[in-house]
Amino acid sequence: MSCRIAVFGTGYLGATHAACMAELGHEVLGVDVDASKLAKLESGEVPFYEPGLEEVLKQNIEDGRLRFTASYEEAAAFADVHFIGVGTPQKRGEYAADLTYVDAVVETLAPLLDRASVIFGKSTVPVGTAERLGHRARQLAPAGVEIDVAWNPEFLREGYAVRDTLHPDRLVLGVDRDRPGRAEEVARKVYARLLSVNTPFLVTDLATAELVKAAANAFLATKISFINAMAEVCETAGADVSVLADAIGYDARIGRRFLNAGIGFGGGCLPKDIRAFMARAGEIGADEALTFLREVDNINMRRRTRMVELAREAVGGSLLGTSVAVLGAAFKPDSDDVRDSPALSIAGQIQLQGASVNVYDPKAMDNSRAVFPTLNYATSAIEACVNADLVLVLTEWKEFVALDPQALRTAVRRPSIIDGRNCLEAQTWRDAGWTFRALGRV
Ligand code: UDX
Repeated sequence: MSCRIAVFGTGYLGATHAACMAELGHEVLGVDVDASKLAKLESGEVPFYEPGLEEVLKQNIEDGRLRFTASYEEAAAFADVHFIGVGTPQKRGEYAADLTYVDAVVETLAPLLDRASVIFGKSTVPVGTAERLGHRARQLAPAGVEIDVAWNPEFLREGYAVRDTLHPDRLVLGVDRDRPGRAEEVARKVYARLLSVNTPFLVTDLATAELVKAAANAFLATKISFINAMAEVCETAGADVSVLADAIGYDARIGRRFLNAGIGFGGGCLPKDIRAFMARAGEIGADEALTFLREVDNINMRRRTRMVELAREAVGGSLLGTSVAVLGAAFKPDSDDVRDSPALSIAGQIQLQGASVNVYDPKAMDNSRAVFPTLNYATSAIEACVNADLVLVLTEWKEFVALDPQALRTAVRRPSIIDGRNCLEAQTWRDAGWTFRALGRV
């Protein structure tokens, strides 16, 4: 049975959720305050790079199940199921999450609701937010209108957003134990197709659902920083972190995934989410429990510094006046997202030390230019490498993994490469006459 759904926010999370809910057969209205985003989406264009999303978006617009609007009045009149998918960025100068956008959705929407409605939060929020928003929504709603606020965290990865939404590992729903209302029943209707294929469905209290998301991201960040800490030890001991990761990864309790050492994690989620988690733990008096996340963050940031050091060493001690090719600017492959991108932050630091930096990324050029307008941007990997004293691979795009060392050699001034993502075959490059270095390996 189809539901009438409004999704607030049309960023990575909201746009994907809106399109995928329509794909599940529901009637969906995507709501945003940004007119330029809405115009693009209405015409079937995704405002960011996400493989497969455009097809789902176009098809569902064409089939009449998906529309977009800036009007909260229209959303309130149309839907009785509301999803909050707006951003919760890091506050300026603080670790805590900025809840302005999440709060604004509830403040604007709740007074407009004229019949029983369920609001599902999907954004990543500090524990306690859902309960607070529940109270606020009921305060603001017209008398006699039943509003349930539940939390339904999103675990999608950029680059796999459609797949992760339509075939999730699990669904988590936090409901208010004191007044459970209709949230679970409605969620079962919305996700009926996913539940019919036995997707694990965990119904929890509000706080647990909020914490599941924070804990999942904290664990993933910790796993990456663990292997990067091993990389530091390997560098000093003359060992190879990639082989080490393979070897420990065979232990099913450890697992090989998310054990790729390199320049570390970035993006719009992991860095800010672990910081917001620490900040919230401090507020509720559990800060000691998460002090290790400070170290996770430190290890991660140290990898960027180490990469800059390695680059300096590779060009003979000073970057001043050298030409450095940077392959990759996105925080990970199959994305055009450069938010807190380790690649771009390294490119910037190298430029600040006096190198001329030529960046190439298959998808993230426009976003990079907007953040770092003073770097040089090339139109291909080869072009970025012309006359380079050093090549850095900082995002493991397939295109870079497949580069031909022989061909690239003819472009550069000095055949010297550093693999910041442990994605290249060292021997192939060495055989082709390159000086090859990588993080965590000799
Ligand atoms: C992450 C979580 O995976 C997702 O579940 C959550 O909902 C949002 O945050 P995302 O930010 O899309 O998703 O990226 P992810 O694939 O987790 O990668 C994060 C960063 O870690 C990237 O910069 C990536 O390059 C880095 N990474 C990942 C490593 O350095 N090593 C690894 O082994 C894996």
